[in-house]
Amino acid sequence: MLVLGLETTCDETAAAIVRRSADGRGEILANEIASQTDAHSAYGGVVPEIAARAHVEVLDVLIERAMRTAGVDFPQLACIASAAGPGLIGGVLVGLTTAKTLSLVTGKPMIAVNHLEAHALTPRLTDHVAFPYLLLLVSGGHTQLVAVLGVGTYQRIGSTIDDAIGEAFDKVAKMLSLPYPGGPEVEREALKGNPERFDLPRPLIGRPQPDFSLSGLKTAVRVAADAIAPLSTTDVADLCASFQAAVVDTIVDRVRAGLRLFRERHGAPSALVVAGGVGSNQSIRRALQRFSASAGIRFVVPPPALCTDNGAMIAWAGAERFALGLSDDIDFAGRPRWPLDETAEPMLGGGRGGARV
Ligand code: KG4
Ligand code: ZN
Repeated sequence: MLVLGLETTCDETAAAIVRRSADGRGEILANEIASQTDAHSAYGGVVPEIAARAHVEVLDVLIERAMRTAGVDFPQLACIASAAGPGLIGGVLVGLTTAKTLSLVTGKPMIAVNHLEAHALTPRLTDHVAFPYLLLLVSGGHTQLVAVLGVGTYQRIGSTIDDAIGEAFDKVAKMLSLPYPGGPEVEREALKGNPERFDLPRPLIGRPQPDFSLSGLKTAVRVAADAIAPLSTTDVADLCASFQAAVVDTIVDRVRAGLRLFRERHGAPSALVVAGGVGSNQSIRRALQRFSASAGIRFVVPPPALCTDNGAMIAWAGAERFALGLSDDIDFAGRPRWPLDETAEPMLGGGRGGARV
């Protein structure tokens, strides 16, 4: 089964072709992406209007390139998938309308994919992970622990009560005058710094309920930075290293609590998997790898380019849904908010309840 997938929910425009075999294995035939980082960097964050316009300008070119790279023509496709939310609605509409148009023209079914579900299912594309598994979804808009029980069956185990982890990385970068997007910058600085210089809090550590809180840690970085301003390059590196160390400790502790809860509710998970942009952070990957080895659980994290937003994950989620006989109506409306677990209580603060990853 060959699927075209489109991603336009935030600041990456992407088109990909993925093949799903009858045995459920996946293969990426083309994965084209155009990042808009430069268009937004002067503003220190994503400007929705600029993003939507940039998607319109490049999406058709990326689709053409993906089809050519994969050596695939429209009649060979099983269906056409697009992320339909959660995300910036102007951008969502670009991908979704393109998918609907292609669907009408080619007569192929259209699949409206939840962007979070696409992150959640990526480890099945890359590593053929079986259900159920424990997912740590960590990105700019989301921080959640989710029990992935099947395609379309997700149970939220824990979530942030304030900032998302990627958001905290971005805010810390901004307060230290590092460029946007901040996550990779903070990681780069942290490599040069002393993680023990600043004694920063590890919020919620030790609590049985596997929720996250980042805003106190972020404020502690600000207080520490203000106390020693003006900052030298060593100060910036040490602050980044100390912040990242606190995040790593917090994540490991919260995942430990999440795994306990998962085992109580669902038995043994087949793996601990990480998805979302923060999953490309090497310190976090290493710490979770160590934790998983000690807990006796398989650890899976997609390569960094498949952790951050991409088209292959959308095509794959479309393939998984289509394989179950699912497709969507041509009048499917894009959704700015679209929680993975629709039964979970909305959480307070940014990034919870269905904002995008
Ligand atoms: O899933 P994603 O690509 O998309 C959105 O959330 O829109 O995640 C992006 C987030 C940003 O907050 C970014 O700063 C963070 O992931 N991020 C990182 C790293 N790479 C990206 N955070 C920490 N370390 C990294 N290496
Ligand atoms: Zn994302």
